[in-house]
Amino acid sequence: MIPTVNGSLPGPTINVREGDTLVVHVINNSTYNITIHWHGVFQLKSPWMDGANMITQCPIQPRNNFTYRFDITGQEGTLLWHAHVVNLRATLHGALIIRPRSGRPYPFPKPYKEVPLIFEQWWDVNIELLNLQPAPICDAYLINGLAGDSYPCSKNRMFKLKVVQGKTYLLRIINAALNTHLFFKIADHNVTVVSVDAAYTTPYVSDVMILTPGQTVDALLTADQPIGMYYMSISPYISANSLAPVPPGHDIRSLIVYEGAKSTSSPSMSLLPSGTNAIPTAHRFSSNITSLVGGPYWTPVPYHVDENMFVTMGLGLDPCPPETTCNGPLGQHIAGSFNNRTFVMPETISLQEAYFYNISGVYTDDFPDQPPMKFDYANFSVRTESDYEMMFPERKTSIKTLKFNSTVEIIVQNTGIISPESHPMHLHGFNFYVLGYGFGNYDPIRDARKLNLVNPQMHNTVGVPPGGWVVLRFIANNPGAWMFHCHMDAHLPYGIIMVFIVENGPTPETSLQPPPSNLPQCTHDPTIYESPTTNVDLSS
Ligand code: C2O
Repeated sequence: MIPTVNGSLPGPTINVREGDTLVVHVINNSTYNITIHWHGVFQLKSPWMDGANMITQCPIQPRNNFTYRFDITGQEGTLLWHAHVVNLRATLHGALIIRPRSGRPYPFPKPYKEVPLIFEQWWDVNIELLNLQPAPICDAYLINGLAGDSYPCSKNRMFKLKVVQGKTYLLRIINAALNTHLFFKIADHNVTVVSVDAAYTTPYVSDVMILTPGQTVDALLTADQPIGMYYMSISPYISANSLAPVPPGHDIRSLIVYEGAKSTSSPSMSLLPSGTNAIPTAHRFSSNITSLVGGPYWTPVPYHVDENMFVTMGLGLDPCPPETTCNGPLGQHIAGSFNNRTFVMPETISLQEAYFYNISGVYTDDFPDQPPMKFDYANFSVRTESDYEMMFPERKTSIKTLKFNSTVEIIVQNTGIISPESHPMHLHGFNFYVLGYGFGNYDPIRDARKLNLVNPQMHNTVGVPPGGWVVLRFIANNPGAWMFHCHMDAHLPYGIIMVFIVENGPTPETSLQPPPSNLPQCTHDPTIYESPTTNVDLSS
């Protein structure tokens, strides 16, 4: 039995138009504590609706409900919603599609049809067992809930897209996998990327794409090949040389079927990147995307930066408590960190409530702008006890305060303390400009010259290259508490999390308002484990 929303996997697609108010009643019939996060939605003036567990609210307890209500303004494209409680996102997720308000066209030719493609990871074990660390290897990957014909167990149960030759389709692609970046490729067809993370891009033609967990891509597919059948496949991108789940020995397939194709013909296949060409292929696709300057919602990059941050990020080690056994390298615990701080989740009240009500003791306002020491971040690796002692992260709930409307630049430096690996960084509440990507240690002279301040891509989630860096910039125009974290779910308990608190602006309109009166509280309800049903009713 798996927890689902309205009984389906993936969960229901939510269709809205820009400018709409979305109202979603979440009725928790499951045995789990739940929040629902609207991944990529700006939540302008609605920070209590972000659904970040213990950051903007306490969870909705079993047999309880909560109504999310917020405006969707200033953004269009494909996003997703998902549970924001560790591992539950595996099955509690779905598409959130924002179309232009009526009468407004897309900034590309109108497609004949639109098709959501949702990539997922599947475990045969009960979801609760996933709390075991390290997380077990998943048993399958799915496309729109189906594993496809490369898994013997699921023969014929494969997502099939019927197309008419000559027509153009808008693929709305979502990587809802918990922990894996995925390559996507269609046999014999190119696609034209028109949007990433619900931000329009310069049309970009590619034969392959990569999506980190939490990223979305909108791409036009023209059925311009001979009538026949063509596989659309995904395969995991393993950038780490250890720790990562071993990929299945085959690609995960769905199928394009041209109208008139003979059902006996065998579909064309494509070769997905693997081995040594995986990292260069991923890097080429990610770094080639640019924003559609002059398109809807485009705003030029602010040149002046108010807050400069250099943040090291990655997995390291924490000492193993005496008389226990730990299964990380050198017999220690694995711990994630930003600037050598491992984020500890508040336990009794959400961080945003603690901020709003001025409750002390929940967090400290001392997140550092720099890591505590300088060394060769990208090439550092733990070989001896004294190596890791240098890097014991400090376990703390510390936040970074930002002035309203300040421009923030974050250089995220991926460290190779255990093993270099691409981590997807996700910011709640804002899109950021990605000014540049690179490998090795960020060089403030050489690399700063090459940053794109003209038409950089915008994202809510970006994959930091393994042993490399990204430079991000955003404008803190929304008061509230906003998470910035690794979107590999397995790395949330390791604490690769930061929180920004954006202070109030000058007017009531630009200030954090009181929480809704029915915001879930963290009181313990002893009756919660009595009802063993596992459905979340999500009606919008
Ligand atoms: Cu899509 Cu904080 O998550």
